[in-house]
Amino acid sequence: MDHFEYRAGRLHAEDVPLERIAAEVGTPVYVYSRATLTRHARVFRDALAGRIAPHGRAPLICYAVKANGNQAVLRILAAEGYGADVVSAGEMKRALAAGIPAEKIVFSGVAKTDGEIRAALEAGILQFNVESDAELDAIDRVAGAMGQIAKVSLRINPDIDAGTHAKITTGKADNKFGIAWDRAPDVYAHASRLAHIEATGIDLHIGSQLSKLEPFEAAFTRTVGLVRSLRAAGHPIRHLDLGGGLGIPYDDETPPAPEAYADMVARVTGDLDLQLIFEPGRVIVGNAGLMMSRVVYVKDTATRRFLILDAGMNDLMRPALYDAYHEVVAVSEPAAGAPRTPVEIVGPVCESTDVFARDRLMPPLDAGDLVAFRSAGAYGATMSNTYNARELVPEVLVDGDRYAVIRPRQSIEDLIAMDRVPDWL
Ligand code: LLP
Repeated sequence: MDHFEYRAGRLHAEDVPLERIAAEVGTPVYVYSRATLTRHARVFRDALAGRIAPHGRAPLICYAVKANGNQAVLRILAAEGYGADVVSAGEMKRALAAGIPAEKIVFSGVAKTDGEIRAALEAGILQFNVESDAELDAIDRVAGAMGQIAKVSLRINPDIDAGTHAKITTGKADNKFGIAWDRAPDVYAHASRLAHIEATGIDLHIGSQLSKLEPFEAAFTRTVGLVRSLRAAGHPIRHLDLGGGLGIPYDDETPPAPEAYADMVARVTGDLDLQLIFEPGRVIVGNAGLMMSRVVYVKDTATRRFLILDAGMNDLMRPALYDAYHEVVAVSEPAAGAPRTPVEIVGPVCESTDVFARDRLMPPLDAGDLVAFRSAGAYGATMSNTYNARELVPEVLVDGDRYAVIRPRQSIEDLIAMDRVPDWL
């Protein structure tokens, strides 16, 4: 459920007509609904709390900042009790700046540098999710130099196919992520001998946009077995970080509801006395945002009709990168029974891959009309860039009948001013 709907033929974000935002902020622009964001955060949190807390310790939800790291978004989630899953010192600083306490931050990612490890130890984060032997040794060395003990979970690669797009699969043996399943006992044994490491957890994340529970269940079941065997070997496993990955409906997929996911987790983790950690990203913010764009030209060729927009692959990369589907709707509601014809929806970027949709059935649209890409709140603005010297796309947050620009459109002057011409030129 979301708060984007037609009222009197005009698409609204909560009580604000999108046309107003287009007129005042311009296009392309990302628009988020605070009510939808808060609702999704609560549904996920309450689904887990109701099913898991009664059996053990209250779960910790560390929102995956990479999905949408705007300060306003993070502030809303912080107020809902969310922690953060970060994959760089930059994301960690974003989370801290938005008021997410360090003790609710987990640091994932395969290439943490000494500088990032130091910054995280200084901040006092909850744990590092360690992805290799070499990284474990680096954390031990940096923590030692600082006279600290670093708390870590080892990210284990369960070698389970998540059944999602190959480019967002992370838990197969040939992915770069995590420590190989059969090496886990040795790496824990090694960790227990390191003076500045306290290894108290297991972590996994098998992929993103999962539309079925089975791969999660297979991976979690395997991992619960590992918790038991590591405990039997004397390792004090107190945390189990189950990662993120729950999908959302973009097209006709029907991903499991958070309640079904939580039921499965409660069943699989059963009576293990440990704290569960979750790292959801997309399921929290995905449907809380859309990207609005204006048609610049309609171009007919011998074989097709192109709808050429003012938004490009630099503003929303998902279709170009993963062939991802986003529903595209007209901001002015089409008349009932309006004919739908197949069009190619493209952007202005000088790349043949700057295509948002092929053969998409769309109502009649003309130059100047507005369209909205639904479900663009996750991995939309965060992945945008300035290719073709296009200003970074702005972001707007709607709350009831008011809205605020939460990231202004960058100016071309700002963009040029980032370059430095050496004085010998
Ligand atoms: N935890 C870790 C360690 C991750 O790598 C990710 C996502 C998450 C949590 C959050 O996953 P989520 O709940 O959002 O599925 N750019 C791609 C998605 C890449 C996901 C990368 N890792 C896309 O637009 O589909």
